[in-house]
Amino acid sequence: MATTHLCNLDGVILPEADARIPVLDRGFLFGDSVYEVIRTRRGELFVWREHLQRLRDSAAGIALDLDLDDRAVLRRVLATLAAAGNADSYVRIIATRGAGTAPNIDLATAPGHPCWVILVRPLPAPPPRPRLVVVDRLRNDRRALDPATKSGNYLNNVLGLAEAKRKGGTDCVLLNAQGHVTEASTANLFALLGGTFVTPPLLAGILAGITRALAVDFLRARGERVAERDLTAADLRAADELFLTSTLRDIAPVTHLDGRALHGGATGPRGAALASAFAAHCDQLATTRDGPAARRLAGD
Ligand code: PDD
Repeated sequence: MATTHLCNLDGVILPEADARIPVLDRGFLFGDSVYEVIRTRRGELFVWREHLQRLRDSAAGIALDLDLDDRAVLRRVLATLAAAGNADSYVRIIATRGAGTAPNIDLATAPGHPCWVILVRPLPAPPPRPRLVVVDRLRNDRRALDPATKSGNYLNNVLGLAEAKRKGGTDCVLLNAQGHVTEASTANLFALLGGTFVTPPLLAGILAGITRALAVDFLRARGERVAERDLTAADLRAADELFLTSTLRDIAPVTHLDGRALHGGATGPRGAALASAFAAHCDQLATTRDGPAARRLAGD
């Protein structure tokens, strides 16, 4: 029977439960790694060029030399997807700085070549509609650990999410040290304010979400006003509608903020219509553009 939770460990495909990482791997010891989460839509790998580019940007952000080019990574991903045989898949690509010679943070003890892990699982059902809580914990400062670098060090997000759940939410809104809104634990945020869809700028200290960029283009193409500017928690409270964007959520309209029901706890009218039109748009891009392009690049 085909195993649907598969791992590609340095080019070898095996069941996820059998994959082992050495205890001196720097991803395990220090979160010294970068990663991407990609999904398939109608069986086709979606916006993979953008994800592979961001993986490279993240690697550059932590001075990690990636020893595989996009084509080699793509081939591993497609081979693992084919072996899994899921209808649609969650794909996590991780490159760690590898297992060093000692449990020592000094890069001088690093092996000089990354460890590559690709996890392929059936695409999970979308999470429940977000109930957001503006948490006390702040987002990492850009000069400390830039949120634009998608590193394996997610403790900031882990703790932000845990605080939001303790306070009755499903996800957090993290502010930065200036009191501006950044993002949720694994998603970007948009607020509809006075007819404009506003999302925090990259300088607020956020991940440059690929869904965020797609949503901006999608909204503008529909004639909507979109702005990147700083938002405060008060702006969120005053917003007509809020939604999150991420690979695993698409556009996800928010139903609660700090325990207060928006739209009587239902999905706002704009968000509901946008979410379904956006999903259809993404499905179309995956089948007409991204899937065929992936096969072309991976082919001989
Ligand atoms: N997370 N912000 C953070 C901190 C994230 O981790 C993510 C994605 C996003 C949304 O980015 P994108 O639209 O490119 O998925 C924003 C993935 C889904 C994850 O870690 O599971």
